[in-house]
Amino acid sequence: MIVSKGGAMGTSSEVLSLMQSIFANVSDAILVIDQEGRIVKANAALEQMTGWTEEELIRDKHICELCLGMATCMEETSCADCFFKRVQMPSFEMRLRTKSGVDYPVAASSARLEDESQGKLVMILRDMSAQQRVEKERYQYKLTNFAIQAQEEERKRIARELHDGVGQALYSILVGLNVVRQRELSEPVMQHVAELVNMTSKAMEEVKRMALELRPSALDDLGLLPALRSLMKRVEKTFHIQVELHVQGEKRRYSAAMETALYRIVQEAMTNTAKYAKASHLGIMFENREKEIVVTIVDDGVGFEVEKTLKIGKGLGVFGMKERAQLLGGTVDIRSAPEEGTTVIVRIPVPKEGVEDEHSCLDRR
Ligand SMILES: Nc1ncnc2c1ncn2[C@@H]1O[C@H](COP(=O)(O)OP(=O)(O)O)[C@@H](O)[C@H]1O
Ligand SMILES: [Mg+2]
Repeated sequence: MIVSKGGAMGTSSEVLSLMQSIFANVSDAILVIDQEGRIVKANAALEQMTGWTEEELIRDKHICELCLGMATCMEETSCADCFFKRVQMPSFEMRLRTKSGVDYPVAASSARLEDESQGKLVMILRDMSAQQRVEKERYQYKLTNFAIQAQEEERKRIARELHDGVGQALYSILVGLNVVRQRELSEPVMQHVAELVNMTSKAMEEVKRMALELRPSALDDLGLLPALRSLMKRVEKTFHIQVELHVQGEKRRYSAAMETALYRIVQEAMTNTAKYAKASHLGIMFENREKEIVVTIVDDGVGFEVEKTLKIGKGLGVFGMKERAQLLGGTVDIRSAPEEGTTVIVRIPVPKEGVEDEHSCLDRR
């Protein structure tokens, strides 16, 4: 240690008191271990991290009682290869055991104090649980985003295949049947052909409906509102529910990711109304506000107990709605009670002008 009398570093007692103050006040845990692995010194940060007092740690804790395993950035390391046997271990990960039984990850380093310290080992530990949690959340977010994008791409592909492949083939059959119809045919054959024409038309309608449901091309070509209008018409026709759409604020196009998410959320809310609500009216209010889009979907149906229903594991659709909104920094709030109808409120923030939101890679094709 560099100690000069009265120099820039101060006297030896000043240096000592500085060292003691650092030891006591740093947020990283510092501990000293003797050659047998017993803890001989621990600072306040270690007390806070483990929940044991310095006295308890020094009296009866061996380093192995605090360590639940270690790993370097290269490998998982076994106890036989413990940091304790090494002279220096500049960086490794350790799972720290605490008094409450909960363990958490710490970034650790260790160094052997030679000379006067009879080979004692000093360790520095930093709590990494918050950082790991953030990393995990970031990874989860990326994964969900990726899965949703992949799903949309796949839906687009299948919709296109249905439209261009099966749809075109059925159309050719229909044209062919109409040619056959022009010929002079016996009455039973004519009847048979008429039936085939009818069946083929129905199959074409079905393919068109499936392609639209998978991914309406209007969403990519014309935008969210035309796509929603066509969805509304289909719901009205199929389920005999009166649907109304009100739009407030300046109409504009949003990023593909935002339009897709909003479309899917409204689609799920409308499908739920059609499936469960026994409603006669469904209202959609679309507000283009300066900083956010708010979409409110209201039905006058039977309603349900939201928390109870979601708690018992029903609610994959609701979960998906929330997840899509969360990915864009937004929320989905569901208000409902038996016999009181259901209101779904979706809020998605609009990214600032010129700032491409990171989700817009879901391109319009
Ligand atoms: N508008 C609604 N009216 C009445 N009940 C609803 C409505 N929306 C959702 N629910 C109830 O909430 C449950 C969960 O909905 P959801 O998450 O979309 O799951 P899923 O549609 O797959 O059953 C439904 O099973 C239904 O009981
Ligand atoms: Mg649903």
